[in-house]
Order: sequence, then structure tokens, then C-alpha cells
Amino acid sequence: MAEAAIGGSAEKVSHEEAGLRFEVDGEIATITLDRPERRNAQTFATWSELARIGDSLPQQVRIVVVRGEGPSFSAGIDLRLLNPEGIPGQGSLATLAAADDSTFEQRIAQAQRGFLWLRRPDIVSIAAVNGHAIGAGFQLALACDLRILAEDATLCMREPALGLVPDLTGTKPLVDLVGLPRALEICLTARAVGAREAAALGLAELVVAGEELTRAVRDLAAALLSVDRGAATATKRLLQGARERTLKEQGAAERREQIARVRALFAGS
Ligand code: ACO
Repeated sequence: MAEAAIGGSAEKVSHEEAGLRFEVDGEIATITLDRPERRNAQTFATWSELARIGDSLPQQVRIVVVRGEGPSFSAGIDLRLLNPEGIPGQGSLATLAAADDSTFEQRIAQAQRGFLWLRRPDIVSIAAVNGHAIGAGFQLALACDLRILAEDATLCMREPALGLVPDLTGTKPLVDLVGLPRALEICLTARAVGAREAAALGLAELVVAGEELTRAVRDLAAALLSVDRGAATATKRLLQGARERTLKEQGAAERREQIARVRALFAGS
């Protein structure tokens, strides 16, 4: 199977095929899933383009907002990828199934790269979710540091219902946020979680009326930008590592970060 037929040439696809829009306004970047006519369904091209945006994020950007155009945040994987004929230029899961393990694994790793950078310590990512966030859509929201949901938002991990597992890095943040039993229940029933329940479970920082979503994101971004960037980055690094460290190790990590902060603050004085 030619590499191009299983998504290997996805780097060359246009923004339009990726279904993404990318805008930067000062310290805030906005990624818009922009295929509302397909409810912002995602393809290999989408994930490659997401990774490319992460690789070339302008240095001044501190906040990355991920949002969806139209009535749904994202209806997940483009279901054409599940058909044997797939998507022109991108192949299908059937073509991947016929590939060797290393090629298949590489394709998934490349897709995951599009999600993983959203946790970088030097930025804060915010998912602004309205309507449906299904499968890959839910995982994209989970890839972000923070989630603001419109009242009409529903989250659904549909992969198991389609015979798949969630593999776009969503399982860890889901378990971290809601715990193993609830994560199991949500994934293995593939049910929809409404916005209010999502907030109660810790899957959303805030739920707002649909027409307030943009303003709520803007307000949160402004609040996040009000603190020192170096301190924000170091604090995010500390918080991200806290679960894996013992109290003693975390204390040592705090000391290291603080020494660097204080030296930076008083450098040249
Ligand atoms: N892939 C490709 N096209 C899609 C997808 C998708 N995931 N979701 C919706 N579309 C298309 C529809 O086929 C339809 O196209 P058409 O106008 O040519 O008929 C158009 O988008 C609008 O879809 P509707 O179903 O009419 O929109 P509605 O707002 O009523 O429903 C909803 C939205 C709930 C998201 C519904 O479209 C849906 O259930 N989609 C499938 C979701 C899914 O199973 N995704 C896979 C999850 S698993 C994973 O991501 C790995």
C-alpha cells in the first residue's frame, strides 16, 4: 500500500482539507474546527495540521482556544474513514488494517501528536465546546487544559460502540478527571454526558449559555493572561507533575522552580 494512501502525505494537504482555521490575536491563538457541514468531523489531515500548528505556534502565544464552527464542536472521526473506500488521498482504517504494525503505530502516534502539544507548560489551552463533542471530538476537548461548555454541549466517547478504543490521548485525562469507575461507565456505555453533569464530574470548569460562550472564553483568557508568564509556566509544570511525585519529591520540585523564579525576578538588580 502506498504511503500516501494511508495518510502519509497528510502534511501536504490544504487547510481546507484539514477543516481547520487558525488565527492569532496577540497572546491568544484560536483553532477553529471549520467543517460545520460535516459537524467538524476529523480526519488524518486534521490531526496532521493540528500537530503542525503546535510545531509552529508563534512564541508570543500564551493561550490556545479550540472551538468548533456551527452547531457542534466535533462529531468525531470522519465516518468516511470507516468505509473501505475511505477519503481521497487519506485512505481509510481498512487500508491501515492492512499495513504493517510499525506503519500503523506511526500513523496513530502522528495523530496523537496533534493533541499532545495542547498540554505544553508554556501555554494554557481552553476547549470552548458547544453542541456535540463525540469520540475524537470529546478527546480533543480532553486534550485541552480547561473546558468551558455551552449549556447544550454533550460529551460522548463513542469509540467502543464502533468496536474501537479511544486512542487520541483521551483516556488518561478522562480517568484523571473523573476516576476509573466513572470513566469506565462513560466509555463502555458510550452514553452522552450533558453539560451540567460534565461540570459536576469535573469535565468542565464552567457551563454558560450558548450565546455567552465566546465571552466566557475571552474573560477566562484575560484572567489567565493577568499573571506573569514565567510563573504561570513554572506553576503549570509543577501542577502537572504533582500526581506522579511524592510529597517530598513535590517539595523538592517546588524549591527548584522557586529558585529559578526568584533568580529570574531579581536578575540584573
Ligand atoms: N463524519 C462524517 N460526516 C458526518 C459526521 C462524521 N462523524 N457527523 C456528521 N456528519 C455529516 C452527516 O452525514 C450530515 O451530512 P449530510 O448533510 O451530507 O447528510 C451532516 O454532517 C450533518 O449531520 P446530521 O446528523 O444531519 O447533524 P445533526 O446536527 O442532526 O447531528 C450528530 C449531529 C449528533 C453529531 C450526528 O451527525 C452524529 O451522530 N454523527 C456521527 C457521530 C459519530 O459516531 N462519530 C464517530 C465517533 S467515534 C470517533 O471519533 C473515533
